[in-house]
Amino acid sequence: MKQSVKLIAGNWKMNGLGASLGEVETLCAALADDRPACRVALCPPATLIERMVRRAGQGVEIGGQDCRAETHGAFTGDISAQMLKDAGATLVILGHSERRQGYGETDGLVSAKAGAALAAGLAPIVCVGETLQQREAGRAVEVVRSQVMASLPLALAGRDFAVAYEPVWAIGTGLTPTLTQIEEVHRAVRAAMIERLGLGIAATPILYGGSVKPDNAAEILAVPEVGGALVGGASLKAGDFLGIIRGA
Ligand code: PGA
Repeated sequence: MKQSVKLIAGNWKMNGLGASLGEVETLCAALADDRPACRVALCPPATLIERMVRRAGQGVEIGGQDCRAETHGAFTGDISAQMLKDAGATLVILGHSERRQGYGETDGLVSAKAGAALAAGLAPIVCVGETLQQREAGRAVEVVRSQVMASLPLALAGRDFAVAYEPVWAIGTGLTPTLTQIEEVHRAVRAAMIERLGLGIAATPILYGGSVKPDNAAEILAVPEVGGALVGGASLKAGDFLGIIRGA
């Protein structure tokens, strides 16, 4: 991901049917009229990837929300990185807290998935973030640092990828850290990324995620070391998502 070009990625989670594709058309029409200075991506449920790729055209990259580390086999209900790529995806969210918490995904598993995504030609967006309890115990930086060190495979060096800092307590709650807290963690993430992968990742974007809305996007995106946003609820409606993209 190129230096200083911010990435605004939407995560639709388990939302969206064929009828929701109109939002993508509205988004793309608006972006065609008014080319944004940032990269824009949408990660819909896997059932919509192929249809969304067809409607989105050049201006919006389409991604998956998870993949399995194995390439194929007897894993009922799962999807491989290669299958996402085959459907037209160019990136994939990995290690979202809803998967770490709901499915017991460990840093080691997230790292294996990131390796599989790279091998399939997808750019991983690797998520990290502390719980409220960890923040209140003064452990936010330590927790996030250790997640970065253990979730990023060495194969990421020199490749297209992003890290997303998403405090678990800020996701879908309307709560956000202060701008100072965001800057502190992003600087710690950058330091850990350099320690793990070397100085070559100095331009790899670190996204902030957790209750990003049109009315707080510009100030969050202006924080040093914030290289974009991972947006849940506010990516479902083209108007809200455009408001965030315009803040970049
Ligand atoms: P939210 O979700 O924007 O709805 O808080 C962010 C995310 O989970 O990626």
